Amino acid sequence: MRFQFAEPFRIKMIENVKHTTKEERQVYLQEAQYNVFRVKAENCYIDCITDSGTSAMSSAQWSALMLGDESYAGAKSFYKMEASVQDVFGMPYVQPVHQGRAADNIMSKIYAKEGKYMIGNMHFDTIRGSAEVLGALPLDYVIDEGMDAASPAMPFKGNLDLNKMRKLIDEKGAENISCVVLTVTCNNNGGQPVSMKNIREVSELSKTYAIPLIIDAARLAENAYFIKTREEGYADVAIKDITREMFSYCETAIMSAKKDGLVNIGGLFVTRNLDVFHKANQLAILNEGFITYGGQAGRDLEALAVGLQEATEFDYLDYRIKQVQYLGDRLKERGVPIIEPTGGHGVYVDGRRFFPHIPQHEFPSQRLVVALYEEAGIRAVELGACAFGSKDKVTGEATWPALETMRIAISRRVYTNRHLDCIVEALAYIYDNRDSYKGMKLVFEGPITSLRHFTAGFELL
Ligand code: F0G
Repeated sequence: MRFQFAEPFRIKMIENVKHTTKEERQVYLQEAQYNVFRVKAENCYIDCITDSGTSAMSSAQWSALMLGDESYAGAKSFYKMEASVQDVFGMPYVQPVHQGRAADNIMSKIYAKEGKYMIGNMHFDTIRGSAEVLGALPLDYVIDEGMDAASPAMPFKGNLDLNKMRKLIDEKGAENISCVVLTVTCNNNGGQPVSMKNIREVSELSKTYAIPLIIDAARLAENAYFIKTREEGYADVAIKDITREMFSYCETAIMSAKKDGLVNIGGLFVTRNLDVFHKANQLAILNEGFITYGGQAGRDLEALAVGLQEATEFDYLDYRIKQVQYLGDRLKERGVPIIEPTGGHGVYVDGRRFFPHIPQHEFPSQRLVVALYEEAGIRAVELGACAFGSKDKVTGEATWPALETMRIAISRRVYTNRHLDCIVEALAYIYDNRDSYKGMKLVFEGPITSLRHFTAGFELL
């Protein structure tokens, strides 16, 4: 008999969650102008708005917290964290920061250049924002299948399209490309992985033209798991050997440790270029804190040192990825259209196929987010017309993104499969009644369009 293992942990401490009634949730939604970012977390039964900073820490991490050395400079905790990062990344220079976007900011200040292109598979919002503030021109060059939520399953939909990159080099000249950023896994299109072959080839092409390659490594362990299980030649390679090979192809890596660091706060700027490191140190001192703590408490660094090691254990990753796949498989059985295959950190429902009668300018995925909260107290997030919609810089006219999805992000080591079954029941119910839903109208947005989803206000049509 081949024994099927369940979770590679047992539960030692619990946090109670609260049921609310549909009538109560309707009031909360009205008060929040139909934006679930503005709903109180205590009124969410299952919170899938993000996988960021929401992991359950292990007993080993909690006990490590007590060892936190809070010295201003040269704390013991820094050196433990540094050694753990060097072990997983195989890179020498480690600058901690308070969270991922601080690393994005330092990276952009060092690598992004005014009026020059910044190629990525799909840039995360805070990288795009940091780059745009500096006048740089970020471009999303993921393969076409990665831009289509209805495309058939394939193993590495996060890959960067080398032909698009070559074409830009030919047309604009390599001197007009400041850097390439590969996001692993690719958050904006389903947590889809990038293959080792693609990382290697992007690196080779970049090197030919002396363009620096940076990896946005928020979900580095999940990407490594997909390489191990989907890419030829890696089945017998250890996860950490895979992560080290991934980073061997880049000059610098940035990381929101709130994902695969299995911690609630923290970030990293890691590099093999000493000049870049010296610049990063100074930028960190300016905005984060001294080099050896970078905006984190010593105890945070201790928890991160342990968390990175736990996140790169195969048994943990196998549980983690298969739990997300469990949700995807159950939803497919009920006919709910999702991005296939399921990615690393969540299931992305295709808003276009779910509500084909709601046009994009009436925010179909946001309507779905609202319906899911209203019916079941489950909070997901829109990654579609509101989050990725933009305005033409010349005419000011609204433009609509290729991807129109609702992301159900799964926190690490937090929910059981019975929680996921609740999500399936609720979504299947909404899907069966999909014709009864109408769209939404955007009635408030902040001045920065790329950040509008966090504070937007809506009305139901
Ligand atoms: N890069 C990626 C790929 C991310 O997914 C995030 C955050 C960041 C950078 C920024 O890191 O939040 O620590 O400052 N993603 C979260 C999400 C917020 O919900 O996907 P941060």
